[in-house]
Amino acid sequence: MKITKVFLLSLSAGVLFSCKEEGKPSSSPGGNSIVVSPFGHFENQTINEYLLTNKNGMQVGVINYGGAITKIIVPDKEGNFEDIVTGFATMEGFLQTNNPYFGALIGRYANRIGNASFSLNGREFRLEANDNANSLHGGLKGFDKVYWEVILPAGDSSILLSYSSADGEEGYPGNVQVEVVYTLTAENALKIEYKATTDQSTPINLTSHAYFNLSAWKQNDILSHELALNARFYTPVNQYLIPTGEMRSVDGTPMDFRQSKTIGRDISRVEGGFDHNWVLDKDLGEMKWAAILYDKDSGRQMEVWTDAPGIQFYSGNFLDGTLSHTKDNLIYQKHSALCLETQHFPDSPNRPEFPSTLLNPGEVYRHTCIYKFSTR
Ligand code: GLA
Repeated sequence: MKITKVFLLSLSAGVLFSCKEEGKPSSSPGGNSIVVSPFGHFENQTINEYLLTNKNGMQVGVINYGGAITKIIVPDKEGNFEDIVTGFATMEGFLQTNNPYFGALIGRYANRIGNASFSLNGREFRLEANDNANSLHGGLKGFDKVYWEVILPAGDSSILLSYSSADGEEGYPGNVQVEVVYTLTAENALKIEYKATTDQSTPINLTSHAYFNLSAWKQNDILSHELALNARFYTPVNQYLIPTGEMRSVDGTPMDFRQSKTIGRDISRVEGGFDHNWVLDKDLGEMKWAAILYDKDSGRQMEVWTDAPGIQFYSGNFLDGTLSHTKDNLIYQKHSALCLETQHFPDSPNRPEFPSTLLNPGEVYRHTCIYKFSTR
């Protein structure tokens, strides 16, 4: 493993890698860097924060608890760098029971599986029900609540996180090896590449649960953000947010984001707010734009690109101002941030009409999501 320009802030950080400029803080005008600093502890392991900086000064922070994104710092149209994702100042924040998956990697199955069960090859698998009678985001202890190993690959713009999910974990079959690579590119994009293999057939659906507010909380909510989604159809849900199986045209409905519009324009017509999966307008596996989010005042724009078939747009409906240990003591109120989670459709293991989420031994699950930032 060849590591260049990695700055180790603490020798007790517990991460094994060679280090060319040990002890030096990141001060790399015009260059990339990765700075590692201790963030806290979890299950007797040290949790570090990995701060990636690119040559433009954009920064992305990631911790190896839940593989969570802790910060994304990007310029506004005046060149002011600010953090545009929710997060916590300390591990206590991440560990609080009502942490709504801030920035975390989600698995083994992102989103909901109805009745917390599915059948595979004639066998019924029962999952942990943690959202009414359903399973949400992998169960009681999903991939967002585990320790991830970190490898720093050659170069100075990527970190690789890996996790082994044991056969039977949260009710899912098969030993699954997961790898996620976060790359901060020179074009101000954060690329997230997911990969998984298994020794028994299992459903899999991995995503990132970053919450964005492109105004960096100059505006308390995201209702004036403009959003476009590359989707002509969405998957309607029942009262527990489980898809009915239908793929319904967005035409003439509040779900129509084919032309960019403010999130606030039609939100009152959607019970509970937006928390739905859109069917991306592209071929299966094709890499294409999925969403464009824009905040006029700051001029910040975020494009979302993916090869996944769907995107969950969640308008932060359950944020209620009760989270503690937040960054800058911010109070995250209802709609103060939103998620754009590239994914397979919810409840696919029980919906043969949806694209399959089954991973079989010998196959490789891959998914890429790109969040690209610019201003206008
Ligand atoms: C997802 C779900 C929401 C909610 C959040 C976490 O995006 O779709 O319903 O559970 O996670 O609060």
